[in-house]
Amino acid sequence: MIILETPKAMRAWSLEQKRLGKTIGFVPTMGALHEGHLSLMRASVKENDLTVASIFVNPTQFAPNEDFNKYPRTFETDKAMCEEAGVQVIYAPGPRDMYPEGYSTYVTVEKVSEGLCSKTRPHFFRGVATVVAKLFNAVLPDRAYFGQKDAQQYAVIRRMADDLDMGIEVIEMPIIREPDGLAMSSRNRYLSPEDRQRALCLSQSLFAAEAMLKAGERSAAVLIAAVREGMKTVEIDYVEVVDAGTMQPVERVDGPIVLAVAAQVGPARLIDNIKFKP
Ligand code: PAF
Repeated sequence: MIILETPKAMRAWSLEQKRLGKTIGFVPTMGALHEGHLSLMRASVKENDLTVASIFVNPTQFAPNEDFNKYPRTFETDKAMCEEAGVQVIYAPGPRDMYPEGYSTYVTVEKVSEGLCSKTRPHFFRGVATVVAKLFNAVLPDRAYFGQKDAQQYAVIRRMADDLDMGIEVIEMPIIREPDGLAMSSRNRYLSPEDRQRALCLSQSLFAAEAMLKAGERSAAVLIAAVREGMKTVEIDYVEVVDAGTMQPVERVDGPIVLAVAAQVGPARLIDNIKFKP
């Protein structure tokens, strides 16, 4: 396993691999890896000659009151998991390598960044787009893999890669769930056994709404009301039906949509979604 810690070392490695004609797949992460991340790595290993995973807890996507300091850092376990998944390189820069003294450049993706998670985390997508642009510039991937759980993040990155002519294929992979339906997340480890039980209402409400969609329900208001009713025991941040491309709210389900939810469950802010195409 090669571990590279600076943008310069990462880029030099990637340039050499490109010179040798190798394709590079990339899985950006903040560590605290779980089966969801591994599914992205396995897809990348299958579809590319080489796979790079980054591990960097990105300060610019956390507000001062959020969990940056206590975000789980489990490098040795993560490294073993990457090795097992067939990753060749871990890119693990430090905060000073990414944001040196005087750092002043940020990427803002308009429209798709607005609404949903931006309402309570207005800083979030600027931080994500900025760090992912920087990671892309160092890793120089042919393909990059993101999970559908962060559906708005995927839409933002995809828009950024297209708009800035990055020439990177941005691939979305399905949500990986625990056997009882809870979407896997690094933040699930914050949940007490009682919170863990209450958290199930997110996926259960979404699955019930999916059944309604399959049965022909097309009104966003009806779907939202049903999901809100199912999530009564947690502190709802949002329940929305949005266009899957633009992430703008829709009133009726006439094209591909995302039914997305976010809620505070004890100490953890959890998100989940289903996608549906009529
Ligand atoms: O999804 C994540 O883990 C992060 O937002 C990402 C894409 C690695 C950027 O820090």
